[in-house]
Amino acid sequence: MATKAHPDTDYTALPELGADVFTAPLAKPAHVGEDWIEPAQTDYSSEDHQVWDDLFKRQMEVLPGRAASAFLAGLDKLDLSRGGIPEFGELSEELGKLTGWSVIPVPMLIPDHVFFWHLANRRFPAGNFIRTRETFDYIQEPDVFHDVFGHVPMLTDPVFADYMQEYGRAGWKAMRYNRLKSLGALYWYTVEFGLIEEADGIRAYGAGILSGPTEAKFAVEAKSPNRIMLNVDRVMRTDYVISDLQPTYFVIESFEDLYRQTVERDFDRLYRNLAPGFTYANSAVIDVDNVINKGTLEYHLRGGRGSGAAPV
Ligand SMILES: [Fe+2]
Repeated sequence: MATKAHPDTDYTALPELGADVFTAPLAKPAHVGEDWIEPAQTDYSSEDHQVWDDLFKRQMEVLPGRAASAFLAGLDKLDLSRGGIPEFGELSEELGKLTGWSVIPVPMLIPDHVFFWHLANRRFPAGNFIRTRETFDYIQEPDVFHDVFGHVPMLTDPVFADYMQEYGRAGWKAMRYNRLKSLGALYWYTVEFGLIEEADGIRAYGAGILSGPTEAKFAVEAKSPNRIMLNVDRVMRTDYVISDLQPTYFVIESFEDLYRQTVERDFDRLYRNLAPGFTYANSAVIDVDNVINKGTLEYHLRGGRGSGAAPV
């Protein structure tokens, strides 16, 4: 992400989002400031804590043998199995000792430039609210379970923690080039839906996979999706699915490899050569791909979410 090319950038100050930069418009709730940080974490009810515990239990039945060892180690290091929604102050203290990161409560999805700014300063914004029983299986907006259970354990891994900070710093350059969509695809296919090759097989490290029971099995074991070795140029030109399982997952060799492929390369040339939209469909397999499994795409060809198609 080549932040080293701009050593003069001040990452401590909230960046401006230019009026002509393509990004999702989000209306700021009146009770938060420009940093979008909630004045306090929600005062959760006992039912809220119970929802967390039930979600936690369900995931732990699915994740051994499917989640990356760094993720499972992170759950242990932070003692996330102690029960109830973690208190962000305590969590930040423990995480701070390990990698210098903290967790801050935000009301909802936050604008890209604010998100980049927090990441660049090793603050992870986490949704304050928790889903209800009615939305137990699927929610569109990331809640505290997705954000804390799904993302925070990976922040205990020193290399991944550095990658996340560099991702935030990379936002400045993406804004200069008006290529937030491409940088967003990199986040999507790594931080949210990334897979890693481990000695015992492919495992998931992406929070979007790890925070739901269906995608954890689908991403690691199903015949439908493509699994392709990560190539940054290719990933940043690839469209993705927001509200269904992914037709394609990208696999890394190690977090060091992910770091090398992104942080240690120059994105200026890449951005100058990128079209504003995406070049490749989310299900495409192209000739430069190093393919691990070419998927049948059966799940998506049968209609995907809502069609009754089995995630096989
Ligand atoms: Fe997420």
